[in-house]
Amino acid sequence: MRLDKYIADCGVASRREAAAAIRRKGVSVNGVLASSADMKVNEETDTVVYCGEPLVYMKYVWIMMNKPQGVISATEDAKGQKTVIDLLPERLQKQGLFPCGRLDGDTTGLILLTNEGELAHRLLSPKRHVDKVYRYSSARRITEEEINRAKEGLVLGDGYECLPAEIVADPEGCGGIITLREGKYHQIKRMFGAMDNRITSLCRVRFAEVELSPELGAGEWRYLTEEELNVLRSH
Ligand code: URA
Repeated sequence: MRLDKYIADCGVASRREAAAAIRRKGVSVNGVLASSADMKVNEETDTVVYCGEPLVYMKYVWIMMNKPQGVISATEDAKGQKTVIDLLPERLQKQGLFPCGRLDGDTTGLILLTNEGELAHRLLSPKRHVDKVYRYSSARRITEEEINRAKEGLVLGDGYECLPAEIVADPEGCGGIITLREGKYHQIKRMFGAMDNRITSLCRVRFAEVELSPELGAGEWRYLTEEELNVLRSH
């Protein structure tokens, strides 16, 4: 592949920035200064050093983001609202990333972004029942009887029978943790609606075994670690 594309795929620069660095003699391939952006490199065998940093070629990108309220989980929004992709630096916006699953506009927390379609579809498949864990607040405290109803599978207003969901209410107040093994449209809001209750805030804290990093502020992101990726790939 072209050297500028290789550098861009590694997520350290856009293709334009990579070409500029090559012109400034800031890039070497196998220890020799690179002279042009269109020189060919082999991503499996060549060693590329970009501005002093040896690059590791990543075929696929996996990112964890702490989605803020009011941002859409989509690659583009017809009404011009900000999307999770808009929160990434320009170099990553060009890598064909998309959200692995959806959160409502007013839901915050963990969203994974990737360009690895096959694994994303596997994780989202309704047959896989991957855990999705949320911290919720509701208008009133949930009762033990309602927790048991959710455990058995709530029936929503449209007759859909939910898979068993686990709810652990906080010892006091109107909040708690809910774990789903499916991801239907507005599912938690509709589940609480079916119990004559109302969700007042929702934050996803875990997807599969991957937990939202507490150090990520609203709108911040980081790459998944090798360990997190291995867990996802084991599904
Ligand atoms: N359930 C909801 O109702 N909304 C979300 O964003 C996720 C799960």
